[in-house]
Amino acid sequence: MLKYTGHYGTPDRIDADAHVIPFPEDKTLFQKTLTEVCPHLKGLVTAYRESGDFCGKADETMMLASAEGRFILVGLGASEGMGAEQLRRAMARGMKQAAALVAPVVALYCPPEAIVKKTLPISFEDTVVAMLEGAALAQYKYKVFLKDKPEEKKGKLKEIKVITADEGYQSRLKAGIHDAMIIIEAVELARDLANAPANVVDAEKLAKEALAIAKKFTIKTVVLNKKEIQANKMGGLLAVNQGSANEPRFIVMEYNDKKRRLAPYVLVGKGVTFDSGGLCLKPAASMDEMKMDMSGAAAVLGTMYAVAKLKLPIRVIALIPATDNMTGGAAFRPGDVITIADGTTVEVKNTDAEGRLILADALVYAQRFKPAAVIDLATLTGAVVVALASAATGMFGNDDELKAALSESGERTYERVWELPLYEEYNKLLKSEIADVSNLGGKWGGACTAAAFLKRFVGDFPWVHLDIAGTAMLDSASDYQPKGGTGVGVRLLTDFLRSREE
Ligand code: BES
Ligand code: MN
Ligand code: ZN
Repeated sequence: MLKYTGHYGTPDRIDADAHVIPFPEDKTLFQKTLTEVCPHLKGLVTAYRESGDFCGKADETMMLASAEGRFILVGLGASEGMGAEQLRRAMARGMKQAAALVAPVVALYCPPEAIVKKTLPISFEDTVVAMLEGAALAQYKYKVFLKDKPEEKKGKLKEIKVITADEGYQSRLKAGIHDAMIIIEAVELARDLANAPANVVDAEKLAKEALAIAKKFTIKTVVLNKKEIQANKMGGLLAVNQGSANEPRFIVMEYNDKKRRLAPYVLVGKGVTFDSGGLCLKPAASMDEMKMDMSGAAAVLGTMYAVAKLKLPIRVIALIPATDNMTGGAAFRPGDVITIADGTTVEVKNTDAEGRLILADALVYAQRFKPAAVIDLATLTGAVVVALASAATGMFGNDDELKAALSESGERTYERVWELPLYEEYNKLLKSEIADVSNLGGKWGGACTAAAFLKRFVGDFPWVHLDIAGTAMLDSASDYQPKGGTGVGVRLLTDFLRSREE
């Protein structure tokens, strides 16, 4: 297990196999870093700055190796636009350099107080959290099925030391490390679940994971089986499940350790453990990615883990409708009319628009809690990927305050959200001649029509729908985001829920 520790000192007094030191581009702050963090490197680094080899630019990395140790200098870039994300990326780059060495112990140096105060719009604790997020999440690899586990190799990373040169910051350093560890574990949990193949993580396994998390903390968890789902008349979840050899599950978790009498935040996660498209079969080329169609559920489970381990003084409920979408002989068909839990009838025009059907049942179920807000996360549409690529999650909602709070959390965590509209016009596109609504909105505006479909099942409370189809899975790695499942949503929701503490 990777260890994270906090220390006070400068590189000459810290025992590590590699020292990662972030430098801002601003000349005065660059000098300040040199004098306060690593005075013994002053001559050499000043020369590099003057020659233009290393000036602290956002994409610069420089390694100095001598008898005194290995020093990896990473640029943070200009003061304008400086924030947590620059630290995450710089630390991710530093760690990648360190990974090329035999370096079981890596020390990461916090920017000195002057830089945190002047250029970083975040607290010292959040500085530490951002550094560790970048450093640790960049190491992630899905290794469950590898015979040769990478960490068993010689010289592999064992400990990350976080170092401050400000003696008075030691307890704040510890607090930052504590929070960071929890957030990192939660993101890794979500990534592992998303990346797990569909023959391993089916609805039942997803429910077992929920129960395992619940057991670790004080989270009351109930898992509805097929009979109970039938009793709840969840016609969307049952229809999608019809073509599968695996039973569906509906997971209900409640975190409320101090039995607070508060209106809860309800998190809903799409738990399609594999989306073949059903009879409206998807093309083979990238069908394997659809093992990650439960990324919304993974994010919700990761968030519950973080919320419980951080002991946030709020009440949070997680709802996860879980099934795969398969083509078995009993599969639902295009043209079928099904009935959602609230009695709404839906004409199934396309069996591949399955996410909205299972979410509809969950949104109806959410109403019984009289929530303070409902937030659903779903890899819902290819259309949102067309609109935003992987740069932002598509956000839809009925409440300005809730949307603004999520936008702010999105900026802080860099799990950014971008609002898309829920215009009245989209309802027309969802008209069916034989049922209350169609599950298909036509050729254009697919992310918007999907959101408009969901809106029909939302009660009279603040609600946001996050379409994470573009952000939950990546085709190629970048900085601290690996290829495959990203765990997006965990840091966003955890930050949001923290901002809700009274
Ligand atoms: N799970 C998919 C959406 C998706 C696509 C997620 C790509 C991640 C990457 C969803 O169930 C789906 O198939 N949506 C269809 C809806 C259409 C049939 C209206 C889509 O977007 O094509
Ligand atoms: Mn689908
Ligand atoms: Zn899907």
